[in-house]
Amino acid sequence: MTDRYAVMGNPIAHSKSPQIHARFAAQTGQDLAYEAMLVATDGFVEAVAAFRAKGGKGLNITVPFKQEAWQIEAERTPRAQRAGAVNTLCFLDGGRVLADTTDGVGLVADLLQNGLPLRGQRVLILGAGGAVRGVIEPILEQQPALLVIANRTVAKADELVQIFADIGALSAVGFDGLAGQQFDLIINGTAASLEGEVPPIPDDVLAAGGSCYDMMYGKDATAFQRWAMQHGAAQALDGLGMLVGQAAESFYLWRGVRPEVAPVIQQLRAAMQA
Ligand code: ATR
Repeated sequence: MTDRYAVMGNPIAHSKSPQIHARFAAQTGQDLAYEAMLVATDGFVEAVAAFRAKGGKGLNITVPFKQEAWQIEAERTPRAQRAGAVNTLCFLDGGRVLADTTDGVGLVADLLQNGLPLRGQRVLILGAGGAVRGVIEPILEQQPALLVIANRTVAKADELVQIFADIGALSAVGFDGLAGQQFDLIINGTAASLEGEVPPIPDDVLAAGGSCYDMMYGKDATAFQRWAMQHGAAQALDGLGMLVGQAAESFYLWRGVRPEVAPVIQQLRAAMQA
């Protein structure tokens, strides 16, 4: 019987995950079905239970349910345990449930793939919401020289520093606290791009030769990518590679097979531009 997987979120109509996993399955010869499921904001726990009851093998979880998914009784990977959010559930035989967060692995893999190693670099993350929570530990594992989290609401950045401070050099500021500092890599994890906005960061915050990465993506360059190009970034990347990378890590957890991400990123990019 074909194994069933799904992504649950709200909204979910524009999710690219079904396409991505269909391509991974074709590429690796795995027999699986993967669908997008719209779940009512107050119906997440019930939806997961119903999916499991029908024999579903695994789930991706997206906005706004990642923190609620963390509450589900499961064996959590250490990175998921600490992040307080999960994007992958794996339902094993015998009722065991594994929970993980693969967003950060996807981000770091995409940075490395694009020739942007983090080791020894000064890294700035904009934002302190759910999108950022899941990527801090994998970034710190790469041993940047320092990681600064800048957020509109400084208290949320402070909270993340408290959670992750023992792994590496980490600090929190408001956007105005960035004056006089420079970074080799700036990662945008705010929702500002959704509104076509860029957080109020200083014009000289990107070091000469530095690069920028927006966790968002779209058909056209995001507002933050445009800011990056206007401010001399060597590279101004969007988050499509991160999306495919987190999917590949989830696929590996479920199936034990690592799909190739590069051809899938290319196919999605071409389809988006068409
Ligand atoms: P997500 O789970 O997608 O990260 P979230 O938890 O609502 O969503 O977090 C959104 C992030 O984008 C937050 O860091 C938010 O800043 P606040 O914590 O101060 O709310 C940030 N954000 C949203 N719109 C923004 C804007 N126009 N300018 C700057 N930051 C913005």
